[in-house]
Amino acid sequence: MRFLALETSCDETAAAVFTDEPVVLSSVIASQTDLHARFGGVVPEVAARAHVQRLLPVIDEALRQANVSLPQIGCVAVLNTPGLVGALLVGVSAAKMLAVTLGVPLVCANHIEAHIYACRLAAGREIFPCVGLVVSGGHTSLFHCHAPLRFELLGATRDDAAGEAFDKVASLLGLGFPGGPAVEREAAGGNPQAFPFPRTFLRDDRLDFSFSGLKTAVLYTVRGNDLSRPAPEPPGPRRADLAASFQQAVVDVLTAKARQALQRTGLRRLAVGGGVSANGALRAALEQMARQEEAELFIPPPQLCTDNAAMAALAVEKWRRQEWAPLDLDAVPN
Ligand code: KG4
Ligand code: ZN
Repeated sequence: MRFLALETSCDETAAAVFTDEPVVLSSVIASQTDLHARFGGVVPEVAARAHVQRLLPVIDEALRQANVSLPQIGCVAVLNTPGLVGALLVGVSAAKMLAVTLGVPLVCANHIEAHIYACRLAAGREIFPCVGLVVSGGHTSLFHCHAPLRFELLGATRDDAAGEAFDKVASLLGLGFPGGPAVEREAAGGNPQAFPFPRTFLRDDRLDFSFSGLKTAVLYTVRGNDLSRPAPEPPGPRRADLAASFQQAVVDVLTAKARQALQRTGLRRLAVGGGVSANGALRAALEQMARQEEAELFIPPPQLCTDNAAMAALAVEKWRRQEWAPLDLDAVPN
């Protein structure tokens, strides 16, 4: 059984082919970073138009790499929520068209749950039940993951997502877009203790997050208290220390909340997904924490952390239950 999966929720145009085991046969990602860089962030309309232009070649390439032809596809899968509505619509429409043309079932899955399922793919074995931590550009959430399609929300960010904070701080420090990898590179040469940035909710029982205060603290440190004055020169040598101190604050909070979630649920497995989980400092801190808690840590390799269509293999679980999506399936932004 061969699945063709599509993912177009934000600024990556992605297609993948996998089997019902699931084993990934190909995963192709066309990044739009080049298009959005000059705006300093993802422009929804630009993203949607680029998906229209890039999706069919990306599908062709995924089929070619998997050595599979379209008539061999037995099911089409799509991540239809959450994301930018115009961007999602491109993938959802293409998936419907393919399912109808090929006469095969259409199956949909949730992008956030799929980020956790990427851990199952990378591990090649069972990861459920587990604590799931999703840290991406749009979400920072902790789940009690009972089973692949049974997620219970334990806590989430009250304002900015962790990735969003990385992107905004990168822009503040003049590091460009996308911000996460740029901040990580800059932080490598800095002192993580140089600036005592806030760690919101760190000593709080709630499993929620808040990163907007941290972002503001970096803003005032860079620009001073009078924001009406023109911005000073980029902070020069202080920049690496600012990046490292900011990154450390995010890592401390994410690690502490994941630890609390393990302790509270009594679970001994932690699965982490989403773009920010590609961050080396976060991965190292989570590894150390998991060792202390005697928990098993699952983090996919970086290319499976950021947006991709292979993680839509979560849809295999729905296919097994014959939970087909209707042909009037919606793109659901939230
Ligand atoms: O999961 P993802 O690819 O897309 C969403 O679903 O949002 O996550 C993208 C986010 C961006 O905010 C990006 O800056 C961040 O992940 N990111 C990183 C790193 N790589 C990507 N953040 C910190 N360190 C990284 N190495
Ligand atoms: Zn994502």
